[in-house]
Amino acid sequence: MNRSGCEFDRRRFLKAGMAAAGLAGFPAVVRAGGARIRIGLMLPYSGIYAPLGASIENGFRLALKEAGGAFAGRDVQFIKVNDESDPAKAPANIDRLVRQEKVDLVVGTVHSGVAVEMIRVTRAAGVMHIIPNAGLAAAGGALCAPNIFRTSFSNWQSGFAMGSVMARRSAVRKVVTLGWRYAAGEESVKGFRGAYLKGGGRIVKEMWLPFPAANYLSLLSEIAALKPHAVYAFLAGSAAAKFLRNYNQSGLTAIVPLVGPGFLTEGVLASTGGAAEGVETALHYGDRLETPKNKTFRLAYHTAFGQRPDVYAVAGYDAGQLFDAGMKAVKGNMNNKAQLIKAMEQTRLDSPRGPVQFSRAHNPIHDQYLRKVVGNENRVMEIAVKALDDDPATKAACRM
Ligand code: PHB
Repeated sequence: MNRSGCEFDRRRFLKAGMAAAGLAGFPAVVRAGGARIRIGLMLPYSGIYAPLGASIENGFRLALKEAGGAFAGRDVQFIKVNDESDPAKAPANIDRLVRQEKVDLVVGTVHSGVAVEMIRVTRAAGVMHIIPNAGLAAAGGALCAPNIFRTSFSNWQSGFAMGSVMARRSAVRKVVTLGWRYAAGEESVKGFRGAYLKGGGRIVKEMWLPFPAANYLSLLSEIAALKPHAVYAFLAGSAAAKFLRNYNQSGLTAIVPLVGPGFLTEGVLASTGGAAEGVETALHYGDRLETPKNKTFRLAYHTAFGQRPDVYAVAGYDAGQLFDAGMKAVKGNMNNKAQLIKAMEQTRLDSPRGPVQFSRAHNPIHDQYLRKVVGNENRVMEIAVKALDDDPATKAACRM
């Protein structure tokens, strides 16, 4: 092969490799014909939250596929940015998507500290933005905006649901909380604390770690010494898997029940080797939800990606469903933004999690389930809180 042929192959190889790795800047789908909608996917494609980003993208792509590969007849071009779950890099990353790439829709992200920077930009620019995970309170509060929707949750919601469950248990009167010290951990614990203290429980210690620290051994010794009736932990992704394994290895499982928001056990069970058995969590999704929609969703997701979907995939899928509903209402004309937004506000999603409607602040109102780890499943046991809206104080701060 001559030299130039070699160079050509190498470039193509590198480009394909970078696209497969989800690295910045490569349009992943370009369909022929029509004025394409430019969709910026700003997600973590590396680090502790990388599997969450992959699930969200898969879910969104599945919704697009089910919409016929186009939203209201408009083909799609994806522009992907790896945000690395790094708030320091977020302003430059979102600026690139909005101002340089001039995307029509931003979908992102997972980490609340990154999301807040994204919102500052999309809010000012008025560009459509769907949050498929980050649960930061401000998105449904002081930073709410007509062009910003969230298909996932607020961090407060599952914390509140688990706090309500624990408050109802008379044998659980003192709890230790543990979490990453950034918006997600703080707001999750806030939700838990509010409901649990109101029900007469006591928090004997709040333990905090910097994100994305995953060194738990000294905390586990302290928990053993404190002997609480339960531990409520906010961690997610591969760090949660490690925590579940360490907790079990420390021998605490049999003595101090571990509970949390569902993120603790979501999408990680295959890598915990049974260490999470019996752990109870609260979340708006879970395994064995026998709704017709969930059955078809799980089958379609498994067929497309060879994996079982998790809560992150559901939010990505619902982001696609929500956008599709809006686009159909405006017949693909995104210049008709007021009508697009109105249609999205009025959408009642047939989500794999169950029915979802949006609050005045564009945050989902949905049932919260109590789940228990059984084998490789986060099995839904009961409804913990029906049709839960956001923290009333947060919602009151939303003006639009
Ligand atoms: C967040 O940063 O809001 C966040 C991240 C991961 C989760 C849940 C919430 O699993």
